[in-house]
Amino acid sequence: QKLEMELETIEKGGYDHFMIKEIFEQPRSIGDSMRGRLRADDVHLQLGGLSNYMDKLAEAERIVIVACGTSWHAGLVAEYLFEELARINVEVEYASEFRYRNPVIKENDIVIAISQSGETADTLAAIELAKSKGATIFGVCNVVGSSIARATHAGAYTHAGPEIGVASTKAFTAQVTVLTLIAIATAKRKGTISEETYRQLLIELENIPAKVEKMFENADKIKEIAFIFTYARNFIYLGRGLNFPVALEGALKLKEISYIHAEGYPAAEMKHGPIALIDEDMPVVFLATRDSSYEKIVSNIQEVKARKGRVIAIVTEGDTLIPGMVDFVIEVPNTHEILTPLVSVIPLQLLSYYIAVMRGRNVDQPRNLAKSVTVE
Ligand code: AGP
Repeated sequence: QKLEMELETIEKGGYDHFMIKEIFEQPRSIGDSMRGRLRADDVHLQLGGLSNYMDKLAEAERIVIVACGTSWHAGLVAEYLFEELARINVEVEYASEFRYRNPVIKENDIVIAISQSGETADTLAAIELAKSKGATIFGVCNVVGSSIARATHAGAYTHAGPEIGVASTKAFTAQVTVLTLIAIATAKRKGTISEETYRQLLIELENIPAKVEKMFENADKIKEIAFIFTYARNFIYLGRGLNFPVALEGALKLKEISYIHAEGYPAAEMKHGPIALIDEDMPVVFLATRDSSYEKIVSNIQEVKARKGRVIAIVTEGDTLIPGMVDFVIEVPNTHEILTPLVSVIPLQLLSYYIAVMRGRNVDQPRNLAKSVTVE
């Protein structure tokens, strides 16, 4: 027992929990997920595991993404990426729903299964079903040789390294990184992005690890916000576009490890119901980075402030408008709009971590949860 505890302390590398260690590892895990695939200097992008399938991908009329939980959120990010960059129609399915329907799958459909563990029972079953209907299946997995990795025709691994904390953090950003690479490579092959955008995206991707690293300088500020909201009973997370899946992910993280009820919504959906929840006791986290929906999100913030909601806004550094409107701001570095989730999710991971620690929760092994869900 003592030996086991000592081993665990060593594995945590000086951190209190695996989760915070894994959050801080993201500059490296994002970088590792690009290594050998991307070189902005000579405008090079190639995914070895998919190279034989690039034509098929470029010709695909439809991509169906199957996953669960956080991996499903990465799938929602990918939906935006493939549609925006490669102009391919994408559907993102909860594996557990997909497998029990009678889904319409055609032989020229591409199915992408996303899974950290590679052992999630529902995702595995969804793959088998799609395979039986003749689709081509790609895997985006973190565990080499896992059941899902073996069941797929081809794929690209995320190189996040072992993720021990039950709440997925570095696996999510690694998944988004790899899916971004696949979407960009497909767009290049199809000719749906300009040479200039292609080059720009590769450069910006290479800069992401350093930007994430820099964000950790904000950790103390996030800790202060966590302290103020430690005993909140509810939280709402709002975002638009690529930040909508990030809002869902922020809410999931908070639920999982702090046991605070939290909901993520597309910001514009708020007025169709959730706005009734807003009062001076409701913390609302806005993903309000400078992107194409900036003006819209600013008016959503006004709607919440008019109802006395307490707003924590994630903004792009240098924003001078939003800080004057909200209660708290957390800055993230500027990047290409397409890459926003890789930076905007980081403060949400930290916020949920600090709140859970302050509440005395078992952060790495929250109640009722297992790291991989191998039962349906
Ligand atoms: C994430 O924080 C969760 N613990 C959970 O939603 C997880 O993402 C889901 O169970 C899917 O796991 P997988 O990626 O290993 O398939």
